[in-house]
Amino acid sequence: MIEDKIKLHAKEAEEIVYRYLPSEEGFQKKIFEAMNYSMTAGGKRLRPVLMMETYRLFGGEGAVIEPFMAAIEMIHTYSLIHDDLPALDNDDYRRGRKTSHVVYGEAMAILAGDALLNYAYETACKAFDMCDDMSRVAKALKVLAEKPGIYGMIGGQVLDVLMTGQAMDKDQLYFVYENKTGALIEAAMMIGAILAGASEEEVDAICSIASDVGHAFQIQDDLLDILGDSHVLGKPTLSDADNGKVTYVTVHGIEKAQEDVRILSERAVRGLTELKYENEFLKELIISLVTRKN
Ligand code: IPE
Ligand code: IPE
Ligand code: MG
Ligand code: MG
Ligand code: MG
Repeated sequence: MIEDKIKLHAKEAEEIVYRYLPSEEGFQKKIFEAMNYSMTAGGKRLRPVLMMETYRLFGGEGAVIEPFMAAIEMIHTYSLIHDDLPALDNDDYRRGRKTSHVVYGEAMAILAGDALLNYAYETACKAFDMCDDMSRVAKALKVLAEKPGIYGMIGGQVLDVLMTGQAMDKDQLYFVYENKTGALIEAAMMIGAILAGASEEEVDAICSIASDVGHAFQIQDDLLDILGDSHVLGKPTLSDADNGKVTYVTVHGIEKAQEDVRILSERAVRGLTELKYENEFLKELIISLVTRKN
């Protein structure tokens, strides 16, 4: 069963990520607690799994991928903590737990996000001592710096916030999805490819495959916000409507949104088929995201 395989891979990724979490001691202990609270709350671990499987796709072996798996999950988790803040989406549940700002207060939640973002880079830099080819680590680090930034995830979140309650045209909607969600998925898969020694053309191909996965993933997220079960999701439903968000679903309707999740996911899998390497699980994983319930 694909669900069991996915669980197994998520567990494997989670164990790796956990090894890089800070220990809770010192005068600033509170921040370590807040970081670990959100990092250990669960979550699908999709980005580290995609990173590992893309690494395996290109024949990657060895532990150099591991600090980067932890780093991408830290950056993703920081983005969720900040996304849930009262000033942004104002959500009280995430990964089945009260959100960081509800438990630790707003100041500490802001700092926990900042802390995870910075600690992600401290963590990724450990890879320099774990391999012979430092240029691959440097290239991977460049992607890890760019994709979450102002021309990536933050850029997408900025337009998402600015356009709240307003109509968006197709280009703006595409920009939001490509960046707020696509960018980190692109980073995950590109870093896997880079660390395994993929060529520039192959990394470009992976970037556009990951972009399709990212768009499909966010459209499905929007669908689940309307059609999903908050207990299964671990976060509130109807958050988008409460916030007056324009989404792919409000623009195109449920049926077209569902169809496009499938079309984009199938195109991503076709892209993988055109490469000269094989990773059957990676394809199954991407297709399974079409019907995901959380
Ligand atoms: C939620 O991401 C935010 C989006 C980009 C849609 P996930 O759905 O991957 O959240 P977790 O990591 O499983 O909690
Ligand atoms: C979030 O989009 C994208 C991020 C960069 C965190 P959403 O606001 O739709 O994500 P959820 O639904 O809160 O997980
Ligand atoms: Mg949001
Ligand atoms: Mg949100
Ligand atoms: Mg959402």
